[in-house]
Amino acid sequence: MIALYEGKSCETAKQFVAYLESKPKLEINYAVFGAGNHDWVNTYQKIPIYIDQMIENAGGTRIIERGIGDSAGDFYGAFEAWKENLFRILRKDTNNQNVISEEKLSIEIVNTKRNLGQITDFGIVLQNKILIEANEIGPTVRHVEIKLPKRQTYRTGDYLAVLPTNPIEIVYRVLKRFHLSVSAFDILSGYVELAQPISRKQVETLATLCKNEKEQINIRNLSGDVYENEILTKRISILDVLELYRSCELSFPQYLRMLPSLRI
Ligand SMILES: Cc1cc2nc3c(=O)[nH]c(=O)nc-3n(C[C@H](O)[C@H](O)[C@H](O)COP(=O)(O)O)c2cc1C
Repeated sequence: MIALYEGKSCETAKQFVAYLESKPKLEINYAVFGAGNHDWVNTYQKIPIYIDQMIENAGGTRIIERGIGDSAGDFYGAFEAWKENLFRILRKDTNNQNVISEEKLSIEIVNTKRNLGQITDFGIVLQNKILIEANEIGPTVRHVEIKLPKRQTYRTGDYLAVLPTNPIEIVYRVLKRFHLSVSAFDILSGYVELAQPISRKQVETLATLCKNEKEQINIRNLSGDVYENEILTKRISILDVLELYRSCELSFPQYLRMLPSLRI
């Protein structure tokens, strides 16, 4: 799995790429999944394509076609589908069924605070105003001014990481939907991404868990051709779907498992 930035491999993969390049023969079985973003038109998936081809040229055997993750599209859906096919091939399994395994994760809420690592100083948002509203060409463009913590510097081109938390209203909606106590508040606000659009695969999983036949058909339709317009563009989350289709019996551990972790 490899991500890329400005057409170059990410920092943590540089050594790995150099290692591959140093080997004239690579007689290995391999699979590549690339994480990119199609907004980088000229260098989209450049490094995953390069690695995939390089290993093949050096005598490697491709287990499965290169997976393509687009962070401006259904990234998680593409990864889940690719991963499932990969494991199917590895298991030499030809069954195409969408199996929901019994959830083994059980949840116990303990009293901990989010670990903010070494961060002791926080930047302060001085201005945050909309310059251009979201339209058919692209998302909202904002002007944001941040007062940096003492001893921090910033030059044009530097990266600024934002440590996010989920909005309180969304956290309360989850507590309500799963009948949880507020002790689950921290995990929901600071550890998992609640607003991520539901992936195609997750839509199918929810459909399978729906007890009401009509709701099941309606949910399943969302994973078809309408997915782009009805789900991705509108950023419909798992929670949105669960609130709309009440007969869907997803347990809280299953829900938690489906959510990506909240990242910088
Ligand atoms: C500064 C920057 C440069 C990027 N350059 C490329 C690129 O050249 N080609 C590409 O396919 N994706 C590019 N991406 C997309 C990242 O690969 C994609 O966002 C990443 O795989 C998903 O993880 P992340 O956004 O959480 O870091 C770039 C993203 C950023 C922020």
